[in-house]
Amino acid sequence: MRILFTGGSGKAGRHAIAHLLAQGHRVLNVDRIPLDLAGVDNRIADITDAGQMFDVMHSYAGFDELQPGTGVPGFDAVVHFAAVPRILLTTDNACFRVNTLGTYNVIDAAVKSGVRKIVFASSETTYGVCFADGTRNPDYLPLDEDHATIPEDSYAMSKVVNEVTARSFQARTGIDIYGLRINNVVEPHEYERDFPKYARDPHLRLRNFFAYIDARDLGHMVDRCLAVDGLGYQVFNVSNDTHSVAAPTSELIARFYPDVPLTRDMAEDETFYSNAKARSLLGFRPQHNWRWT
Ligand SMILES: NC(=O)c1ccc[n+]([C@@H]2O[C@H](COP(=O)([O-])OP(=O)(O)OC[C@H]3O[C@@H](n4cnc5c(N)ncnc54)[C@H](O)[C@@H]3O)[C@@H](O)[C@H]2O)c1
Repeated sequence: MRILFTGGSGKAGRHAIAHLLAQGHRVLNVDRIPLDLAGVDNRIADITDAGQMFDVMHSYAGFDELQPGTGVPGFDAVVHFAAVPRILLTTDNACFRVNTLGTYNVIDAAVKSGVRKIVFASSETTYGVCFADGTRNPDYLPLDEDHATIPEDSYAMSKVVNEVTARSFQARTGIDIYGLRINNVVEPHEYERDFPKYARDPHLRLRNFFAYIDARDLGHMVDRCLAVDGLGYQVFNVSNDTHSVAAPTSELIARFYPDVPLTRDMAEDETFYSNAKARSLLGFRPQHNWRWT
């Protein structure tokens, strides 16, 4: 596929792009800074500028696309990751503005340019636990996509708004738009650095529901979204099958979630952040587990 990928120079995007290139896709990365990776084309552009988003949707990816003399090819899919990726980086209103306006511009330009598949980065934070003031428990566990999304912070609010924006564009066009409620992204070098701390102090992972997703498995998830058509508007939790700490699930429940209702029994290392929907509808199968990576 010929894919326009926004925000591919960042932590998550660069691994996702590497995975997509390895599957044989062509990728144009649209970001404020280029990605230095063999095989990827880059375009410097700002997602908050609607004109720039319309321009890139109708752009050659590289010089070689001039050669056939048949004009600018269309994109088969757009993957939208560009964002201010959390609170406390910019002002709250700047985070909200960049993320909501940027997402509107990217999806608007994509659908008006005839793109039929859009995948966008939402977040685990939509469930309101991650950036809550004080400790806030989920309503139930394991946490699935039906859980309420009423967060308190500007970043998560922007992601909830983006899901509403995406759902409305899908309703108008009938195309496929899939949102990824991505859990905490872990790059390969972070296992050695961070996971011993998590083993010593599981509390460090409470705000992430003890879950995580390897950046390379996130690439696999994006590829599954591109491969499976016809689902309309969907959101998917994206996490590893297991949690990120050494303690068994039953011990974590007793220590951290004694009053949270369980909807079913859980396996020994099972993640609290259910990826069952992605497994069943998309064939998502994460490969990289901290226990053996
Ligand atoms: N990292 C995580 O744990 C995590 C978890 C859940 C969701 N997400 C989401 O996944 C996506 C990628 O996150 P990340 O961790 O790679 O973030 P990142 O900050 O490393 O990468 C984001 C990229 O977007 C680009 N960008 C920002 N503003 C832009 C603009 N106005 N125009 C063009 N490009 C712009 C940045 O230059 C950067 O390369 C984001 O949407 C983020 O909200 C990340």
